Amino acid sequence: MTEDKTKVYTDQQIKQVLYKLYDLINRQIESSEYGDYATFLNWGYVSGDTPSHSVVQLPKIYLNKSSTQLILELVGDTPMDNRHVLDVGCGRGGALSCIDTFFNAKSLTGIDLNSENISFCKKKFKNISFQEGNAESLPFQDHTSDIVMNIESSSNYLNIGSFFLEVSRVLKPDGVFLYTDIFNLQDLDDYFPFLKKAGFKLEVNRDITSNVLIARDEASAGFVMGMDGFKGIDKLSVEECCKMIDLYSAHKGTRSYKLLQSGQFVYRMFRFRKVGNPAENIHLRISNHSKNRVSNFCSELLGQEIMEKMID
Ligand SMILES: C[S@@+](CC[C@H](N)C(=O)[O-])C[C@H]1O[C@@H](n2cnc3c(N)ncnc32)[C@H](O)[C@@H]1O
Repeated sequence: MTEDKTKVYTDQQIKQVLYKLYDLINRQIESSEYGDYATFLNWGYVSGDTPSHSVVQLPKIYLNKSSTQLILELVGDTPMDNRHVLDVGCGRGGALSCIDTFFNAKSLTGIDLNSENISFCKKKFKNISFQEGNAESLPFQDHTSDIVMNIESSSNYLNIGSFFLEVSRVLKPDGVFLYTDIFNLQDLDDYFPFLKKAGFKLEVNRDITSNVLIARDEASAGFVMGMDGFKGIDKLSVEECCKMIDLYSAHKGTRSYKLLQSGQFVYRMFRFRKVGNPAENIHLRISNHSKNRVSNFCSELLGQEIMEKMID
């Protein structure tokens, strides 16, 4: 990542960009006729030539297939039956609905920072519990979850160390942390030693970048911008909003797609097990490279021109 050339945005500015981005995505989804079926916001997974880790075989045609497959690959052979499952950054509830469909968990709970996502989830999935909340300070008691899931959300967290410690706090001993996201490889060099000191043992570590790229190729073919009467937001024209959704969705040919294709970003999937408690005075060592991680991530993904227009 070209850190020295990339402008650094304040936490407040980043929060503003992310708020507007998700607001726009929600508006786009809600305004289209498939809005009610759009229960995922992730980039999905297609097996291609790689062996699947899922214990569930989806039919050839299945609604939101690649996003569902991402969840099933993440679960792999992790026992889910009779477990208390928490999904942090649950978006529009698709992952928990998938767990509900294929497994027999004891309880399913989702939290997300975005209130519109949570209202959608509450309306759509009556038998799952959802609430608004921040991944960096989880509104749950210690040792209450058997499984914490986190799917394509952590690159938005300003203090990722707090998130990891919160996962450790809410997990029961021997609990499982199922974690997948887009990373810059150098960030992972900071995270692994921290997670170890936080009491986690790494059990599964997969690079699924090529599978995500196939999913993006498939999604690009069917992309529709259904926003009748939409006039753009703030300083962004309709065309710029479309471009932003395109970038966010990593459609073929966009810079976000190319970042994955070139290896500058990788999509990884992990299973960690909680085998101990966090060491005393634990600190996340942030390398120079990762210091402005979320700011860089947003700039890399959206481009500086759009970033500037999203900030008041
Ligand atoms: C790319 S979406 C993925 C949603 C979902 N996990 C999925 O797979 O469809 C990222 C989600 O993370 C949520 N998010 C971002 N920052 C958050 C935070 N600090 N705490 C909780 N959720 C957050 C966003 O609101 C958004 O719904």
